Amino acid sequence: MAHISASVYTSHVPAIGAAMDLGKTHEPYWQPLFKGYEFSKAWMKDNRPDVIFLVFNDHATAFSLEMIPTFAIGTAAEYAVADEGWGPRPVPKVIGHPDLASHIAQSVIQDDFDLTIVNKMDVDHGLTVPLSLMCGQPQAWPCPVIPFAVNVVQYPVPSGNRCYQLGRAIARAIRSYDADLNVQIWGTGGMSHQLQGPRAGLINAPWDNGFLDQLIADPAALALRPHIEYVREAGSEGIELVMWLIARGAMSDAAAGGPKPTVRHRFYHVPASNTAVGHLILENR
Ligand code: DHB
Ligand code: FE
Repeated sequence: MAHISASVYTSHVPAIGAAMDLGKTHEPYWQPLFKGYEFSKAWMKDNRPDVIFLVFNDHATAFSLEMIPTFAIGTAAEYAVADEGWGPRPVPKVIGHPDLASHIAQSVIQDDFDLTIVNKMDVDHGLTVPLSLMCGQPQAWPCPVIPFAVNVVQYPVPSGNRCYQLGRAIARAIRSYDADLNVQIWGTGGMSHQLQGPRAGLINAPWDNGFLDQLIADPAALALRPHIEYVREAGSEGIELVMWLIARGAMSDAAAGGPKPTVRHRFYHVPASNTAVGHLILENR
């Protein structure tokens, strides 16, 4: 059967992708940020999964105010890299895993979570920047990716607890897939940031680090924090962090009464563009 070996959590700041694409990673401003991902790139090479289930948010690229799915699973064979206004990023197209994605959709929908099925979707920085941070600049991404888009852009957004419970259902789905696949689940977006209005530029490092602590130690309690706390404490775009609870809910301790995960890597850096960057790698035991 398929199994989840690890979860990865990372911010997706678009300027990070631009720094990589334009060869600026060694500039003094960017050096400390990319140093925090050196371990991660080596870890990815040593722990290459068969499939990445990548939880991200679309930024009005594939979706718009015309259609706003709360949760959307990509069941396509491949996904083009989106043009976000400057041309598509010069990164490989994303290869999907239609069979596993369809199985997860079947299982999770029958498990009472309503998903939108997406057979065509361009993927924006929310998905490609985490891949670049973890995989560098390869000719092709190391494995198929199942994109899972969450609406954190237009209110109402899903609660932390719904995301956490959904992660548990995704783990049940993956565990019931009849092929010996090593699956990683990634939660992306965040940490504290606000891109507009009088509080633009807001960073709350103590709150971010408390979030990381509790995500590791007590995700069920973290899941009960209301969405308004994310907005007050972590800024309007800090709400992206609820996506991390989907990945955390899929880990063995949360989903199957297993042991606590091992913290393989933890990193926090301010600033990247207007944003705090957080990153964790948790391994199932
Ligand atoms: C920016 C955009 C994002 O989507 C994000 O999550 C962080 C930063 C930006 O434009 O700087
Ligand atoms: Fe974002």
